[in-house]
Amino acid sequence: MSHQIEEVKALIDLREKARMGGGQAKIDSQHKKGKFTARERIAMLLDEGSFEEFDMFITHRCTNFGMEKNHILGDGVVTGYGTVGGRLVYVFAQDFTVLGGSLSETFAHKICKVMDMAMKVGAPVIGINDSGGARIQEGVNALAGYTEIFQRNILASGVVPQISAIFGPCAGGAVYSPALTDFNIMSKGSYMFLTGPKVVKSVLGEDVTQEALGGSNVHASKSGVAHFAVDNEEEGIEKIKDLLSYLPQNNMEKTPIVPTNDPVNRMDDALNEIIPDNPNKPYDMYQVIRSIVDDGKFLEVHKDYAKSLIVGFARFDGITVGIIANQPAVIAGVLDSNSSRKGARFVRFCDAFNIPLLTLEDVPGFLPGTQQEYNGIILHGAKLLYAYGEATVPKITVVLRKAYGGAYCVMSSKHLRGDINYAWPSAEIAVMGPSGAIEILYGKELKETEDVAAFKAEKEKEYRDAFANPYNAAKYGYIDDVIEPRNTRFRVIRALHQLENKRLTNPAKKHDNLPL
Ligand code: HXC
Repeated sequence: MSHQIEEVKALIDLREKARMGGGQAKIDSQHKKGKFTARERIAMLLDEGSFEEFDMFITHRCTNFGMEKNHILGDGVVTGYGTVGGRLVYVFAQDFTVLGGSLSETFAHKICKVMDMAMKVGAPVIGINDSGGARIQEGVNALAGYTEIFQRNILASGVVPQISAIFGPCAGGAVYSPALTDFNIMSKGSYMFLTGPKVVKSVLGEDVTQEALGGSNVHASKSGVAHFAVDNEEEGIEKIKDLLSYLPQNNMEKTPIVPTNDPVNRMDDALNEIIPDNPNKPYDMYQVIRSIVDDGKFLEVHKDYAKSLIVGFARFDGITVGIIANQPAVIAGVLDSNSSRKGARFVRFCDAFNIPLLTLEDVPGFLPGTQQEYNGIILHGAKLLYAYGEATVPKITVVLRKAYGGAYCVMSSKHLRGDINYAWPSAEIAVMGPSGAIEILYGKELKETEDVAAFKAEKEKEYRDAFANPYNAAKYGYIDDVIEPRNTRFRVIRALHQLENKRLTNPAKKHDNLPL
């Protein structure tokens, strides 16, 4: 065998060794827990044969606690690039088989390298988290490593899409990298918390399981930290691919057009009858969304969190659009603190990545009460208002039914630089609902009248006749046109094409001061 052939063979052997991570026993243990390894996850995510790995020969430099005798090639994280659906992405996957996927100085350098590359060439970063956190033996070097990653997450925000999958433990300060990214996908059995059950017990005396403290359901429905909760890793990987298909590669690009056979002028007669006669009766906004988007396909974000507002991605004539829609079927579609924050973050993501906004409005107002006020609904509502007001992407609004009070102003109204504002004939645009208005306008008369119910009914009718229609707003040009509900898809698509080359910039500033 020539010397060169021997060298090549040694390289192949070394690569094989690196690919084994922490070894067969650890890989088996990972599989026994129902989890995939870092390399298997990357293989599922990327187009076959597209993965090119960086830094597989890296080892750590720690000499504490016997670590000088414990070197594993690659040091616990697999990094590199490849393609998803033919489009470039950068990836890192923490390898739990190597020292529990714990993060060392060199581990962090590997992640920083792919993040820097992604920023340089303008491609998304996908991070798969499965780690015991900071590598304890490394002390401050591990903390420094985390913080270097955080800094890059911050600088990359709004430049390239950043997506985090949580497929195992993610605890302590480690949670802040996913928290800084645009989307978090959590699989069943994974968990995220700042302080684990043991600390909770010692500080608060509370008994709580990992699942109840920071499982995927908790973060998808209560905290909003997770945008998607999935049953297993395969589903999580599919979610990432689906999500990427809607997004541009970076903030300088438009989203990819995905051709469809769904006719642009497809009408749906059912929409002409969807609004109940009784204005206080709900209907299902999902029915409207599925009816008007391409092929009925809607990728909902934050499905189980703050459900009175629906947000997610869909396409119209192949163009990605971010939909924000009040859901009358959940607490009458009212805006509360959580739904305001949810909407604001989504609107800002879309604006940062050139994704037009479609707002489907049926909102009776902001939720009243001490709980909401103490919780700062003033500030949270202001976030949504701010997000819409600063957004420069095309903004199309359709008022289906109620657009009351402050919620009318906030939900992409004409006055917040809404580009095209349509209303259905069923729209009601007013300062408040009839019942509240009558109580305020006729407080004295209501006290003196004998037949209160009849008086109220008469005045409410008067109020409805004046305001429970779109024409009063249309009279002032706040509504551009009143449209036939069944024709909504066609009108939205026409508006999108009209706005394709929209140009609008905000005043120059260092940065804004969004009410946090
Ligand atoms: C070094 C670690 C480690 C860590 C796990 N390991 N976490 N090594 N530093 N942080 C090692 C274990 O020693 C073990 O090595 C292997 O990884 C697998 O761990 P196990 O405990 O056997 O696995 P499991 O039973 O599945 O439990 C997983 C776990 C547990 C729940 C994650 O390992 C754990 O509690 N780890 C510590 C978590 C933690 O408190 N981390 C620090 C958080 S604070 P061997 O050799 O036996 O295979 C933090 C600060 C970040 O991260 C701040 C950023 C600003």
